Amino acid sequence: MCDKRGCEVIMQDNHHALILGASGGLGAALVAQFLADPTITNVFAVSSQVRPDFSAMPEGLKSKLVWITCTYNEVSMAQVADQLTPYQGQFSRVCVCHGLLHSDTLWPEKRLEDINADALHEVFQSNTVVPTLWLKLLFKVLKGSTPCVVATLSARVGSIGDNRMGGWHAYRASKAALNMVLKNMAIEYARRAKNVKLMAFHPGTTDTGLSKPFQASVPSGKLFTPEFVASQLSNIMSDVEPDGLLSYVDWNGQTIDW
Ligand SMILES: NC(=O)c1ccc[n+]([C@@H]2O[C@H](COP(=O)([O-])OP(=O)(O)OC[C@H]3O[C@@H](n4cnc5c(N)ncnc54)[C@H](OP(=O)(O)O)[C@@H]3O)[C@@H](O)[C@H]2O)c1
Repeated sequence: MCDKRGCEVIMQDNHHALILGASGGLGAALVAQFLADPTITNVFAVSSQVRPDFSAMPEGLKSKLVWITCTYNEVSMAQVADQLTPYQGQFSRVCVCHGLLHSDTLWPEKRLEDINADALHEVFQSNTVVPTLWLKLLFKVLKGSTPCVVATLSARVGSIGDNRMGGWHAYRASKAALNMVLKNMAIEYARRAKNVKLMAFHPGTTDTGLSKPFQASVPSGKLFTPEFVASQLSNIMSDVEPDGLLSYVDWNGQTIDW
């Protein structure tokens, strides 16, 4: 069997999904989405949180799930990559779901006087540094003959071309930086792991803890459930093939201006 590029596709038995940042609103919905997907063999969920109580989950789904805790320093992340090495080349879906917009101690800036070095570091750590380290550390795990789509949760506000309102300095800049890292990674992965397709994904405003304080201004019908977005992303991932390029798309599969 050959793919669109005429390269021989070696069929493997296992097609695993890997969800990084699995306890968030979108991460948890993606875990559920891929557990329910019969084409996915196992779902590996990585989170800083302990494994939730899945006792009510049907046995067939529960047995598909592998929960791994990680503190997101580079040593702990490298240990996760080591743990996944026996499954090298068997991942077909990877979702990088880390993101931070606000917390008890930080709030998105409305004007430049609100910019604070500690908040900048914290937001960049979650939105840019952690996803970058995953793409470095997982390179050997993802490389192989199984077509593997890696969707990293970005945001439309990370688009420089689309920025008309300003504000949210740390969040916007950290997502723009993430997009550039992904572009760089796509160039290197295209050379060194041709089976991997990278995607920067904007979920639209989704009803999670991250968007909660900002939902009042969302137009009716434009606040999505995490389940809807997980299903959209899964469909979009199924429709793409490794082409050596980075795609920047929204929940509807529409391309976003850089
Ligand atoms: N919700 C929206 O409207 C919206 C819109 C545009 C873009 N996004 C993007 O979508 C992604 C998922 O967001 P969400 O809405 O699901 O938010 P969420 O419910 O707040 O989840 C946040 C996620 O970030 C991880 N995280 C939090 N702090 C971190 C840190 N310091 N270091 C590393 N990871 C950290 C958590 O991982 P654990 O599993 O370890 O807890 C969790 O997966 C983010 O990248 C966000 O920017 C969301």
